[in-house]
Amino acid sequence: MNGKTHQRREHWASRLGFVMAAAGSAVGLGNVWRFPYVAGENGGAAFLIIYLAIVFTLGISIMIAELAIGRAAQTNPVGATRLLGGRAWAGLGYLGVLAAFLILSFYTVIAGWTLSYAMKMASGALSRSGADTAQTFAGFVADPAQTIPAAAVFMVLTIAVVLGGVKGGIERASMVLMPLLFLILVALATRAVTLPGAGAGLRFFLTPDFSKVGVATLTTALGQAFFSLSIGLGAMMTYGSYLDRDQNIGHAAGWVVGLDTLAAMLAGFAILPAVFAAGLNPEAGPGLAFVTLPTVFASIPLGALFGTLFFVLLAIAALTSSISLLEPIVAYLIDEHGMRRVPMTIAAGAAAFLLSIPSALSLGPWAGFTVFGKGILDLLDALTAGIMLPVGGLLVAIFVGWVIAPRMMAEISAGVGAGHGQPPRFARLWLWILRLPAPVAIAWILLSWAMA
Ligand code: TRP
Repeated sequence: MNGKTHQRREHWASRLGFVMAAAGSAVGLGNVWRFPYVAGENGGAAFLIIYLAIVFTLGISIMIAELAIGRAAQTNPVGATRLLGGRAWAGLGYLGVLAAFLILSFYTVIAGWTLSYAMKMASGALSRSGADTAQTFAGFVADPAQTIPAAAVFMVLTIAVVLGGVKGGIERASMVLMPLLFLILVALATRAVTLPGAGAGLRFFLTPDFSKVGVATLTTALGQAFFSLSIGLGAMMTYGSYLDRDQNIGHAAGWVVGLDTLAAMLAGFAILPAVFAAGLNPEAGPGLAFVTLPTVFASIPLGALFGTLFFVLLAIAALTSSISLLEPIVAYLIDEHGMRRVPMTIAAGAAAFLLSIPSALSLGPWAGFTVFGKGILDLLDALTAGIMLPVGGLLVAIFVGWVIAPRMMAEISAGVGAGHGQPPRFARLWLWILRLPAPVAIAWILLSWAMA
């Protein structure tokens, strides 16, 4: 820990700036790429209900806990957990930094897809009606000569924004572009639900069939909630460490969770009805958005134009998320090892890019190489979203709920109302969720999954 840097630690310029940056972290490929396909694979509406229940109980509570840890400690996840809880708790910080690195590696691959798709859309070939979008996608992901350079471009962009530092880079990028993405998602969802044949997709997304719910559904919903909210690895701790004490953490978390859920719902409405309208299979897996959305663009005037704009905005949403994966790693290296921002950002980004190459290849030439029946990209996804993030969240809940509760109560009370340090109304419910339901539910889901 480097105490001297703390007084000078850069902070968000405004309250809106922080909410936009944190929402920028949450809203990303997790909402538009991951959510619709895992919902599709797990029965649609039943999954949606379980997902929403997790988000608005455990998810928001753990997000508040992470922000409070970060703000109280004013440092990176490793330093923060060590400062507040002692040496052993720093393990939670290290787990997070490792998870951030692993997620960043495969996230870069998918983000590269969106960049390539923006170009394919611009060329007009993809949005032509009758184009075989499934075949286009299969050919594209299997071609490393396209996917690896696209991932490289995306990583360079991520590094460039993180180099700009917290305020200069992260905050400004989020403020402008987030609202645009929401607008275009609304337009897409509106078109998708009015496509002929969309009704079956709407029923799939909104009428639950709980007979299909099993332990796997719960594990997947839990992992999706953590992934989508950017919790479980200290990204929110890192962002919280740039937060001033006159800001209301609970309020900020409410906005972030609300915007993230809205984005996922809009993506669901844009994609799932269109899946059925186009006669595609909701269980098509990770390619679902890339296969489905071009069919929606083919059905609207100026489809190529809107399609290009959409994939550019999605790449930008991915960028405001990927920077929140790189930033905790860089903050750790700066705060704990006294390294400099520029070389460390480049080194960490380059290393994550190197690890992204096997992920990219796992959908093409290396498709035959599997562990536990999964290729490398799927494996990293399952390891992080399915195990590391929930374990991280479990530890955050126990840490805040049982180990440093009084300190954290004071932290969430700072910046509330007139600023007299009264605990906010939700404080006791929050602490109770962290103490009991969160650890029990997460441990139970992880254990039943491990034993299944
Ligand atoms: N939440 C982002 C998304 O939905 C991904 C992400 C960014 C993330 N930072 C994170 C996931 C930290 C887990 C932890 O696309």
